[in-house]
Amino acid sequence: MASVEIRNLRKKFGSVWAVDGVDLTIRDGEFLVLLGPSGCGKTTLLRSIAGLERPSAGEILIGGQRVDEDVPPRHRGIAMVFQSYALYPHRTVFENIAFPLRAAHAPRRNIEEKVRWAAGVFGISAYLDRYPRQLSGGERQRVALCRALVRDPKVLLLDEPLANLDAKLRNTARDELKRFQRQIGTTTVYVTHDQIEAMGLGDRVAIMDRGKVRQLGTPQRVYEDPDDTFVATFVGQPPMNLLRLCDGAGPPGTLLGFRPEHFLPRAVLRAAEDARSFRFHVRRVEYLGSDRYLYGTLPDQCDPSPTFIAKLPATIGTPVLEGEAYEFAVPVRALCYFDSTSGLRRRG
Ligand SMILES: Nc1ncnc2c1ncn2[C@@H]1O[C@H](COP(=O)(O)OP(=O)(O)OP(=O)(O)O)[C@@H](O)[C@H]1O
Ligand SMILES: [Mg+2]
Repeated sequence: MASVEIRNLRKKFGSVWAVDGVDLTIRDGEFLVLLGPSGCGKTTLLRSIAGLERPSAGEILIGGQRVDEDVPPRHRGIAMVFQSYALYPHRTVFENIAFPLRAAHAPRRNIEEKVRWAAGVFGISAYLDRYPRQLSGGERQRVALCRALVRDPKVLLLDEPLANLDAKLRNTARDELKRFQRQIGTTTVYVTHDQIEAMGLGDRVAIMDRGKVRQLGTPQRVYEDPDDTFVATFVGQPPMNLLRLCDGAGPPGTLLGFRPEHFLPRAVLRAAEDARSFRFHVRRVEYLGSDRYLYGTLPDQCDPSPTFIAKLPATIGTPVLEGEAYEFAVPVRALCYFDSTSGLRRRG
């Protein structure tokens, strides 16, 4: 096992800075998630750690050793699982998992032992004689993970490994992966653009945007205490509401942010709760079983056009009708302020 240290890393493709000055330390044994929209540089960063891309500038250290200049991928102590899994179609599951060990000329007994151990961990012992085409997407993913693991990597690099699975299978696979990572304690860097996956898996999450890390923190920290409007609206479903305040209605040049679950009928909040009230004109009610999402506008604000969302859990039975306006409120402790030009959080 090892820590991974990334210092001011940059990678340029043509005129595009795919990675644009990333500083990141991944602790020994940590499960770190790189989360961000398509094209923000996640894969490029991961491939740079693996040694499959040569950085334009900056440093990468694995276990305290500098690797970015001349340590080839096979000597970095890493194993990478790609989104496509890249299994060999004409080899059995056993041979797929054994492949890196054979390539390293490991003794036969050792190979047999390792493959059976990894297959056992992931519950695919019964499939060792099958071919990849005879497996479901979830099973193939486990084969790819087994193949990465038999090499006892110091660092496991996973690029959207669950993206090909259907929603139900993804839940199970997420749980399995997390339990497994806790069991073996291998430092893991996991790439995804799915915030649910990121929040559910990561000890910490690094949120990326256009080649930069916008915020690094625990899932709870990035959700409850976002550093800027990008993080505030990227993490959370539905996203945080952002309201441009009228002159005199708050600090100038400020956006007011509040999460849909904090935007509730005033009557639901305790009377003594210090809260900011808004008249909320409900345009549409979406019934989702566990919650209702209310879409509407704030007609008393200087710009009454943007849509705001309230998320009411099923436990709040207050009747809400489309086309009606109600007094809604946000507890003051749940309000966030952002600079309207830079998008950066204003604290204090
Ligand atoms: N080999 C390459 N040549 C030229 N440009 C590239 C290359 N690889 C990536 N890029 C560009 O670098 C940027 C970052 O790409 P990258 O694949 O790292 O994004 P990503 O965050 O992994 O996106 P996704 O979620 O879609 O996989 C994109 O603008 C992409 O077009
Ligand atoms: Mg990618």
